[in-house]
Amino acid sequence: MENQTRKKRVFSGIQPSGDLTLGSYMGAIKNWVTMQDEYDCVYCIVDMHAITVRQNPADLRRRCLEQLAQYLACGLDPAKSILFVQSHVPQHAELSWILGCYTQFGELSRMTQFKQKSQQHADNITAGLFTYPVLMAADILLYQADYVPVGEDQRQHVELCRDIAQRFNGVYSETFVLPEALIQRVDQGARIMSLGNPLSKMSKSDPDGCVYLMDPPEVIQRKFKRAVTDSETSVRYDKENKPGVSNLLTIYCAAAGKSLEEAEAEFAGQGYGVFKPAVGEAVAELLRPMREEAARMMKDKAYLEGVYREGAQRAGRLAQRTLDKVHRKVGFVAR
Ligand code: TYM
Repeated sequence: MENQTRKKRVFSGIQPSGDLTLGSYMGAIKNWVTMQDEYDCVYCIVDMHAITVRQNPADLRRRCLEQLAQYLACGLDPAKSILFVQSHVPQHAELSWILGCYTQFGELSRMTQFKQKSQQHADNITAGLFTYPVLMAADILLYQADYVPVGEDQRQHVELCRDIAQRFNGVYSETFVLPEALIQRVDQGARIMSLGNPLSKMSKSDPDGCVYLMDPPEVIQRKFKRAVTDSETSVRYDKENKPGVSNLLTIYCAAAGKSLEEAEAEFAGQGYGVFKPAVGEAVAELLRPMREEAARMMKDKAYLEGVYREGAQRAGRLAQRTLDKVHRKVGFVAR
């Protein structure tokens, strides 16, 4: 009965391993905001995932708080959704250990993100980097999430999470809801590419190819004016042959709320000299109110603390319910 009446649950998170980017906003946060009215949403700042690669402690602490301010400024509302910091809810680490015992070494070895990151950080390939997807599965399964709104790059991790859940349910009977990744349409930002290299994903660790949510308008304009395109002049979507222009078109559509056809028609007969600043302008206008609001929020530390403390309490209660159930199923003695 409870299951029939309960709203579907949503869980997602972002690592505070760098400042929030336009990629994370378009691929994930934009979706998170609109889902708040229809679903029971839980959104996390996944600081435990961030330390899978080396972080400067002072920067990590600062970015966690800034990320919360930016979540709020983007429209996440603590009256509607649970907003919290992963390390404040110890059940994530606890469930992660248990799930690790139901995950195969081979499965983790196949994860694309692990392969990429172990190349990038070849001198520091830790066990944490390897088991990262198990912690992510724990994040999702603790809250019995039905949907996980993420960018295209996280699809494989959500699928692994589903496999782990299915395996556990198969061994011990129904325990976890099987989650489903919710990914934006391609033309609305499922995968935003780097402005400097349109063949690789826009990522927080690549300042030149990346637009940050807190970039002021003149910096945004400069980044778009320098964006890599091609030697033609026509503004049309052709991902194979014109990856740079196609990426800019996607960003324009997602920022201005237009379809690809509308955008192509708007720039028909106009060169990149008109197109690139127009994309910059659309993005600068999109981000301006968020940047201003986030800067205001950062001045009110007491408010931010109140939000994450209350969020951790609410999240902890939900998480403990699942963890108790898991402890019983695997055969741990009740405390
Ligand atoms: P992270 O921190 O790398 O990225 C956060 C979210 O933003 C999306 N994203 C993008 N979408 C489109 N284009 C881009 N260029 C782009 N860059 C990032 C990501 O797909 C993601 O949705 N493992 C996750 C964090 C995580 C998580 C979770 C997510 C930990 N636990 C549980 C969902 C559920 C990550 O590294 O995301």
